[in-house]
Amino acid sequence: MSTSPATATRPTPTGEPLLRASELVAGYLPGVNILNGCDLDLYPGELIGIIGPNGAGKSTLLKALFGLVTVRSGSVTLEGRDITNERADSLVHRGVGFVPQNNNVFPSLTIEENLQMGSFQAPRTFAERFEEIVDLFPTLGDRRRQRAGSLSGGERQMVAMARALMMKPSVLLLDEPSAGLSPVRQDETFLRTRRINRTGVSIIMVEQNARRCLQICDRGYVLDQGRNAYTASGRELMNDPKVIELYLGTLAADQEKAAAQEKGSGDGVAPAAP
Ligand SMILES: Nc1ncnc2c1ncn2[C@@H]1O[C@H](COP(=O)(O)OP(=O)(O)OP(=O)(O)O)[C@@H](O)[C@H]1O
Ligand SMILES: [Mg+2]
Repeated sequence: MSTSPATATRPTPTGEPLLRASELVAGYLPGVNILNGCDLDLYPGELIGIIGPNGAGKSTLLKALFGLVTVRSGSVTLEGRDITNERADSLVHRGVGFVPQNNNVFPSLTIEENLQMGSFQAPRTFAERFEEIVDLFPTLGDRRRQRAGSLSGGERQMVAMARALMMKPSVLLLDEPSAGLSPVRQDETFLRTRRINRTGVSIIMVEQNARRCLQICDRGYVLDQGRNAYTASGRELMNDPKVIELYLGTLAADQEKAAAQEKGSGDGVAPAAP
């Protein structure tokens, strides 16, 4: 693990983390570990990003935090309390929400019914919470009777996020919220995620779109082969030459392209590689 000098947008967090994963080892098949000693801290109010290559174990880490993959060793704590391998429904009750990478809506149910599923543990709060959620996602209110299966990818993502928010979680786990969306919809998703974070929800977001993720998150983790490779503020990771070289190849290419565009077509000299 490596950290660069602190230039974080928020002060370096101190005190007790809201959620802490220590030396997590987890996997699906007997004898095959996908997580090989992962550490992660989420401090109150933070938005943290997890990036890394395909198959690094990012989704597995979120599933292990949410009780959907068995943790073989190591621990997960929420406000200091051990929640390792606690069941997902009990974690929802404790204030943890999870939006999976795939199949995250009930397609045959309407938007409103999907959100009702999100509050099934506290049905009496539904009406009040629905109005609050519709403030964040006005489209969902306007189209509450539409079946989720007929929505676009971006709209489904909204439904999935809204459903996870119905129980007023203190921690939200998001697995690739921008996946499969157009650039404009991706931007909306990132802005919405930041907005939800600013309402006081602490968020762990896994993202393929590493550049946008690191731009908006307070701190980032790079996972590789089920281990932490780098941890620092989002900005530090974005500018760390090793992280760029190893994990943000497209970012480096994007930066070069942007810099070249900024220079205009004048001299045609490409900027030096970072
Ligand atoms: N249900 C499963 N059963 C067995 N192996 C699995 C299962 N789900 C994932 N894996 C394996 O675990 C490893 C990590 O997968 P994971 O989905 O956590 O990666 P990821 O970092 O989220 O990748 P991506 O960026 O493609 O979403 C992969 O080798 C994958 O094949
Ligand atoms: Mg994944």
